[in-house]
Amino acid sequence: MKMKIELTNNETKQLIDLFDRYHDTILSEWLKLASISEDDPYRDEVTINGGHTIRLIVAYIRDPETDLIVQLTKKVARERVEANVGIGEFISNINLGRSIIYRVFSKMDISESYQMKYLLVVNDFFDLYMFHAITEYTNVKDSIIQNKNLFIQEMHSDRLSILGQIAASFAHEFRNPLTSIKGFIQMIEKEAKPGTRTYFNIIKQELENLEGKITQFLYLSKMKGLDDESEIFPIDKVVRRMLEFLYPRFLDENINVYHELEKDLHMFGVEEQMKQVLLNILNNAVEELSNMDDDRMVNVKLYELDGLIHLNISNNGPIIPAHLLEDIFEPFISTKQLGTGLGLSVCKQIVEKHKGSIQVHSTIEETTFLMTFPVVTKKGDPYDNDSLQRQ
Ligand SMILES: Nc1ncnc2c1ncn2[C@@H]1O[C@H](COP(=O)(O)OP(=O)(O)O)[C@@H](O)[C@H]1O
Ligand SMILES: [Mg+2]
Repeated sequence: MKMKIELTNNETKQLIDLFDRYHDTILSEWLKLASISEDDPYRDEVTINGGHTIRLIVAYIRDPETDLIVQLTKKVARERVEANVGIGEFISNINLGRSIIYRVFSKMDISESYQMKYLLVVNDFFDLYMFHAITEYTNVKDSIIQNKNLFIQEMHSDRLSILGQIAASFAHEFRNPLTSIKGFIQMIEKEAKPGTRTYFNIIKQELENLEGKITQFLYLSKMKGLDDESEIFPIDKVVRRMLEFLYPRFLDENINVYHELEKDLHMFGVEEQMKQVLLNILNNAVEELSNMDDDRMVNVKLYELDGLIHLNISNNGPIIPAHLLEDIFEPFISTKQLGTGLGLSVCKQIVEKHKGSIQVHSTIEETTFLMTFPVVTKKGDPYDNDSLQRQ
């Protein structure tokens, strides 16, 4: 690189002389005015670096090619990052050096035209110095942030995979006895006294609940659901059936259910998994509404728009606070005493497996879970229209 300002040999000599003569004045002024904290671990280095910087100006006047600037700014920037000095303070301390030199030069007994020329050289030096210093400073900062992110990610995925493994093994341990309990219950139900039907219904209902919870754990640990066969299915019918299935629960909880379901909307995927999504979101809605006084409402909308199936499920329960909204789809996030915090994370996994998206929107009036999925057009349908209509 060439210096932008050409100096004659004499000028070069004079400028270097000036720096030699005023080295100590500049340095002591600079250190006096710079803001350096008492507990800066590199306090002593700052003095040394200041001296190096002034000597470096001389080196730069001799040879603007010098890569000493890169080396010194690397050292300085790293130390400033480690000393926890903000970028603003760092820049202003460097600029202070520039203005102190301006001030010292302006008091010298040299002609104005020389003064101007010399100041331009100093200015060039500081531009270069600043450029390298800030580049290095931000590089070091960036890499610290990257490392921290990596660390957090690793911690997070470690924790998740351990919990996932525990969940999976527990779930398996529970599932087998559950299956035999269900089988034997069915056997004794046939021989049971009349009038015990209600009890059997409760037992069966509770067993289903338990099974549902276990299924969630298994989904989470990716043990189940991955090998299920994908196929084209009518999502409108699945939604309708799910609402019918939950109807007794809505009735129990005094919840009005409204729905607008566009007919014959097909999607590609696993029907059972979509049922799980609906179940989890509707269950959450019921749970939230059960804390409300009255006027409890659930609203389900299904329609096609711009080649996407939109499925919106809302309720007029309490607003979800902002801090919770951020990671509501993360596993183990729950505000319920006995909550697993898995429902929504399973939903997200399933929705994403179906190439869809899920979002939540919450206001004082209502909370809505908005999902979209690619619609399966009849054109690409491997089945003929008849068989679809017969379903
Ligand atoms: N419809 C909703 N309205 C308000 N809060 C909700 C709603 N659905 C979910 N939440 C919040 O999200 C949390 C996580 O839900 P979820 O993943 O299903 O786990 P869990 O139901 O076991 O707590 C709930 O504990 C609740 O605080
Ligand atoms: Mg839930």
